[in-house]
Amino acid sequence: MKKQLIAVLVAGAFALPAFAEQNVEVLHWWTSGGEAAALNVLKGNLEKQGVKWNDMPVAGGGGEQAMTAVRARVTAGNPPTAVQMLGFDILDWGKQGVVADLNSLAAKDGWDKVVPAALQKFSKYNGKWIAAPVNIHSTNWVWANKAVLEKAGVTTIPKDFDEFIAAAEKVQKAGFIAIAHGGQPWQEATIFDAIALTTGGIDYYKKAFIDLDPKALNSPTTEKVFHRMGQIRKLVDKDFSGRDWNIASGMVISGKAGFQLMGDWAKGEFINAKKVPGKDFLCFRFPGTQGMVPFNTDQFVMFKLSDPDKTAAQQKLAAAIMDPAFQSAFNVVKGSAPARTDVPDTAFDDCGKKAIRDVAEASKAGTLVGSMAHGHAVPASIKNAFYDVITRHFNGQLDDKKAAAALASAANS
Ligand code: BGC
Repeated sequence: MKKQLIAVLVAGAFALPAFAEQNVEVLHWWTSGGEAAALNVLKGNLEKQGVKWNDMPVAGGGGEQAMTAVRARVTAGNPPTAVQMLGFDILDWGKQGVVADLNSLAAKDGWDKVVPAALQKFSKYNGKWIAAPVNIHSTNWVWANKAVLEKAGVTTIPKDFDEFIAAAEKVQKAGFIAIAHGGQPWQEATIFDAIALTTGGIDYYKKAFIDLDPKALNSPTTEKVFHRMGQIRKLVDKDFSGRDWNIASGMVISGKAGFQLMGDWAKGEFINAKKVPGKDFLCFRFPGTQGMVPFNTDQFVMFKLSDPDKTAAQQKLAAAIMDPAFQSAFNVVKGSAPARTDVPDTAFDDCGKKAIRDVAEASKAGTLVGSMAHGHAVPASIKNAFYDVITRHFNGQLDDKKAAAALASAANS
């Protein structure tokens, strides 16, 4: 017995140091209250497996600043272990040949069968898995404060763009801020995704923002999209410039504002503030876009490293991300749908159940499209050129016609 105990203690003593050395340094932009709560689910999961988590947060919604930080680290020859990334950025790093190969883990755990093809397009480079997708977000959501709408006399969910504007005007007249908005290019582009879909429909969106057809880009439809962006502009408050998206969510949560047009990461803020969907707040697809899902998926890319402890920890991180139970626990908090199709919706609230249902239906109907605003429609250079046009127009520096023409030129960036 004594001998056995000694054997166990000795084995433990040898096992411990190797265990303790496993760590992951994770670069991400999940710094808001709701995002941090979701990230803690992943941290906790890894720490339970003995993998230490070194946090490398780079604030800035949409991840532009985070991508600048990654470039600096890789150029300095010191890449982080794992990085949160979106769409075309993943493929760009795949092309550079500096990312780790997750193919054998993916084959062992059967990722091919459970991750929708629309996501796999961004998780694989040259047919090999290089990223582990953690969620499916989408950009065309409206978040509304129920009590504010009641006070303003808005009794039904608007069915189309004009009804939405009429409802927002009522909210404004009742003395609230109609639309809580943060004046940052990626946030304006997020609204633009929804307005483009409600104005031109799915075929226009695909032609203009995925195929970059110059005739679709510089068209009367695009002019109308910009005209409508101008209508939205009249319904935001005077202090919108530079405001972070989660501060804007906070304005709806606290009852200062009626609506926010934002992806479903906003729900993470409502949940984190202990608000209940259907009771305190409403979630619906931007009027006229029900059935269409402009998605973005957060994926974790592992960089090629030589230290075997680090590479072992990378595999553990990737496996933990793809675990179905984790995908449920994480996405319940994050506001997104799971990246796997086999995760039950039981633990999700009404907005989450709707997100899962909408993704499945859109995937079948061919209306699950990459979000332009969040890097799943065009490479970063073009996306940034689009941002620039959209933001200049939003700030009154371009009229509708010039903005449509400028978008078509931006497609050549
Ligand atoms: C990411 C979300 C994130 C949001 C705001 C999006 O691009 O996909 O995970 O919460 O930006 O930072």
